[in-house]
Amino acid sequence: MKILFVGDIVGRPGRLALSSILGRLVDIHAVDFVVANGENAAAGFGLTVDIARDLYDFGVDVLTSGNHIWDKREAYDYLDRQERLLRPANYPPGAPGRGSGIYATSAGLKVGVINLEGRVFMSSLDCPFRAADQLVEELREHTSVILVDFHAEATSEKVALGCYLDGRVSMVAGTHTHVQTADERILPGGTAFITDAGMTGSRDAVIGIRKDLAVQKFLTQMPVRFEVAKKDPVLCGLLVEIDEGSGKATGVLRIAEALEKSR
Ligand code: FE2
Repeated sequence: MKILFVGDIVGRPGRLALSSILGRLVDIHAVDFVVANGENAAAGFGLTVDIARDLYDFGVDVLTSGNHIWDKREAYDYLDRQERLLRPANYPPGAPGRGSGIYATSAGLKVGVINLEGRVFMSSLDCPFRAADQLVEELREHTSVILVDFHAEATSEKVALGCYLDGRVSMVAGTHTHVQTADERILPGGTAFITDAGMTGSRDAVIGIRKDLAVQKFLTQMPVRFEVAKKDPVLCGLLVEIDEGSGKATGVLRIAEALEKSR
């Protein structure tokens, strides 16, 4: 089976890139299941119910998230209601929503998805490695196809989790930095890995934010109200081929497709 993992969707340009490009990618590559990180889909900060519905309509099966999922209050209830929306599993008990789930492709193949958040240069959450141990064990009772979105800042932490889960999950894809890394590979145990899947949003920007505003912030160190940039939308992600019997990855392809190219 083939799955497409889409990197952080940032604001309206990200949604536009997704709606314009995703369908064609799914057709060309015969994709069975689409996971996308949607934590920046609402003007760069958080996710609203209406926008989540749009993303599902565009063809996303499961939305993952990260630290920005808490930016829009309406997402809190929605996290409890919508099984196809995940937040990182290693938030302390009491956080709304869930961090993993088991889903099915249209052909009826089961897919487990786990969302985790890193702790290096980020909040002091529970250990993502130990959270993964427990969740992988639970999900493997239902399916050997398990996809992990590790929303983290540090490349070392992301590579380390990939190595730690190698052979136990089908894919570990990093998110959060919005800059796609060129290290996609299948690890020795059969886990497809990329340090960061990249961003789905404006490339003529500083990680999706207007260049002038981001530079102003660095120059002045004063608070600046960020706005999402508009130009040159791109869809970034990772295409993974998986043997559904063993759950091992058999192919991995990095995707970075500009909107103009798809027209
Ligand atoms: Fe993030």
